[in-house]
Amino acid sequence: MPYKIIEKKEIAPSVHLLKILAPDVAKAAKAGQFIILRIDETSERIPLTIADFDAVEGTITIIFQEMGKTTKQLAKMTSSNELRDFVGPLGTPADVRELGTVILVGGGVGIAPVYPQVRAYREAGNKVISVIGARNESLLILEDEMKAASDELHVATDDGSKGHHGFVTDVVKNILDSGEKVARVVVIGPPILMKVAAGMLEPYGVETLVSLNPIMIDGTGMCGGCRVSVGGETKFACVDGPEFDAHKVDFNLLMSRLALYRDEESKCLENHNNNHKCTCRGEN
Ligand SMILES: Cc1cc2nc3c(=O)[nH]c(=O)nc-3n(C[C@H](O)[C@H](O)[C@H](O)COP(=O)(O)OP(=O)(O)OC[C@H]3O[C@@H](n4cnc5c(N)ncnc54)[C@H](O)[C@@H]3O)c2cc1C
Ligand code: FES
Repeated sequence: MPYKIIEKKEIAPSVHLLKILAPDVAKAAKAGQFIILRIDETSERIPLTIADFDAVEGTITIIFQEMGKTTKQLAKMTSSNELRDFVGPLGTPADVRELGTVILVGGGVGIAPVYPQVRAYREAGNKVISVIGARNESLLILEDEMKAASDELHVATDDGSKGHHGFVTDVVKNILDSGEKVARVVVIGPPILMKVAAGMLEPYGVETLVSLNPIMIDGTGMCGGCRVSVGGETKFACVDGPEFDAHKVDFNLLMSRLALYRDEESKCLENHNNNHKCTCRGEN
């Protein structure tokens, strides 16, 4: 069954929002879950986090950054297009409950997956302090939405064009050093940000959760592609996660596995950019 795109906009350079009509997914979706989509019969399957959902309207919102062939193809879709497959909700929902004060950190396009969690933690009765960051002001997404959904919003940019001049981790450190009693920190963003945040937070003894983004294929625990090491045990991020205890994650393994297919991905993108037939399995 095709899935209709009902809204499409570029919300920052190379970052796009798509609202898709998928009533069954919207009815069951919870914060922290993701979908796997396929643009057409020959496309690869890609996982994207549910950035928003509306069970009444029957819609799911996804926000993605152009990276390689498939996300560049997706960026060209318009509100008159349909997606071939849209499977979800997948993954274990985020462990949201009343804890007291919770800091939610989103880096870059990681702000999108943090947003539904901000709303869910606030609805569960927590004081929510959100910290969002990007390389520069033009890449900051969902600032107004995050402000409305949080008790406090802090902004950081690498170049100082908005908010704190520096990283989101500096801001989190300042909040903890100010004496704020924090029960949990949730960090979502590039693996290097999650790794640095976990290291910075360890001495504070604060529970820290991260949402991992390994390469996924089936999304149902069958292929083993998304395996990660957590506390020395192998876990499948698509069914056991994607949320895990940051202090137990082997981030070096995650980052090396994410780079496994870099040569093939670049070749695929080059073929796509030059309008050449791709040599990968999907297009043969
Ligand atoms: C649970 C989960 C949620 C995600 N949510 C978001 C999101 O909300 N927004 C967003 O912009 N991105 C998200 N991603 C990453 C997104 O899936 C990749 O950017 C996308 O698959 C890249 O495909 P591509 O063909 O454009 O690029 P490619 O050139 O194929 O790959 C570029 C890089 O993306 C990663 N990647 C490639 N294929 C996959 C795959 N099948 N599964 C996971 N990672 C892959 C690899 O690191 C790779 O080096 C998520 C990933 C996971 C696992
Ligand atoms: S994506 Fe196949 S086991 Fe997780």
